[in-house]
Amino acid sequence: LRQIKVKEDDFGLMTYDPGYTNTSSCISRVTYIDGEKGILEYRGYPIEQLAEKSSFMEVAYLLLNGELPKKDELSGWEEEIHHHTVVHENIKRQMESFRYDAHPMGMIISTVAALSTFYPEAKNVRCAENRRLQIKRLIAKVPTIAAFTFRHSQGHPYVYPNNKLSYTENFLTMMFRMVGNDYEPNPAIVKALDVLFTLHADHEQNCSASVMRAIGSSEADPYSAWAGAAAALYGPLHGGANEAVLRMLNEIGDVSKVPEYMKKCKNGELRLMGFGHRVYKNYDPRARIIKKCADDVFEVTGRNPLLDVALELERIALEDEYFVKRKLYPNVDFYSGLIYQAIGLPVTMFPVLFAIPRTIGWLAQWAESLEDKEQRIQRPRQVFLGERERDYVAMDQR
Ligand code: ACO
Repeated sequence: LRQIKVKEDDFGLMTYDPGYTNTSSCISRVTYIDGEKGILEYRGYPIEQLAEKSSFMEVAYLLLNGELPKKDELSGWEEEIHHHTVVHENIKRQMESFRYDAHPMGMIISTVAALSTFYPEAKNVRCAENRRLQIKRLIAKVPTIAAFTFRHSQGHPYVYPNNKLSYTENFLTMMFRMVGNDYEPNPAIVKALDVLFTLHADHEQNCSASVMRAIGSSEADPYSAWAGAAAALYGPLHGGANEAVLRMLNEIGDVSKVPEYMKKCKNGELRLMGFGHRVYKNYDPRARIIKKCADDVFEVTGRNPLLDVALELERIALEDEYFVKRKLYPNVDFYSGLIYQAIGLPVTMFPVLFAIPRTIGWLAQWAESLEDKEQRIQRPRQVFLGERERDYVAMDQR
């Protein structure tokens, strides 16, 4: 055994934990996960009960404030969010400059980052009152910008928010109302989207939440931190997975092709998208709720034929030694894309539909980390294995 610090210039004991599998970066009281047992709780309340009994706005209040709201607290909170739903006209103009085929995630990331220039006081992150104001603005404006990205890619005029509608109804209306039609979202679809938003609201120290905390630790404004977190979410191994699942299901196309596709996943050629999770080594509890949600939506929209492909993939995986041994189960993204598609959303919008509700978790954790006196700027170390102490070699001698 070697002493931890032998010489003065030794750095002492250092953990090496790529991907931070075994490292806690913070103390948190927001979301609890037991990956072995498949448990997810927001502020102590099981996700199953919240998905069944509460609205997304109620869950947002809970995650941010620690307690479920009383009736008047909830209506006050909803009113405050309504107050901030509109975006500055220059934001709209800026969005008009994107290419017609720009990916909605690219548009929303850069547009939310641009909000920091409209609210320069947001930099004052040490002021709790100021933090609360920016939190409300972000929660209110993200769905408006999200709907604008969709309208932009469709070439349709933007629909402004209608503050008489609930959070989810408003979002659906900004997405789908056309000139001359009186689109009113079906209550079953509103309920399903509300549940999906609830399920995606937070998931402790995932890649994007960690980025939000890391950027927040330098005391950057929350719009810039949001943009960084959303960029992390965009990757196919994180929030981009729901988009990748739908592309995969379309590529497989038919139940008869499932075994051949599974073979490629097992020999390492492909990953079965929507399967596996860093923390859940059991069925993701959110996937179970989403499966039920899919049935409710398909009753209204008609059954998505790709559901049969998804069910067959799951059936084979749950019996296959490769997946069983590695504890690979469907995650939250496996079924959500099928619902989004049934609602009429293109796959490019799927990660945006993840970013809208995850805004709550990012902000709850951002605020928590700024209130935590032990938190400092995030600055991990490294194990250095490169060359050292070399003399510069002149160009003509290399
Ligand atoms: N398909 C096939 N094999 C897989 C899959 C998969 N989806 N996921 C993991 N494996 C295998 C790996 O090849 C590895 O096998 P090996 O031990 O023989 O090398 C083993 O399972 C462990 O995999 P890791 O990559 O080490 O697991 P990690 O915890 O780092 O990754 C992740 C988790 C990124 C979610 C991974 O399971 C994955 O890529 N899944 C598909 C993408 C996906 O659905 N992402 C969404 C996650 S949920 C969310 O972000 C909301």
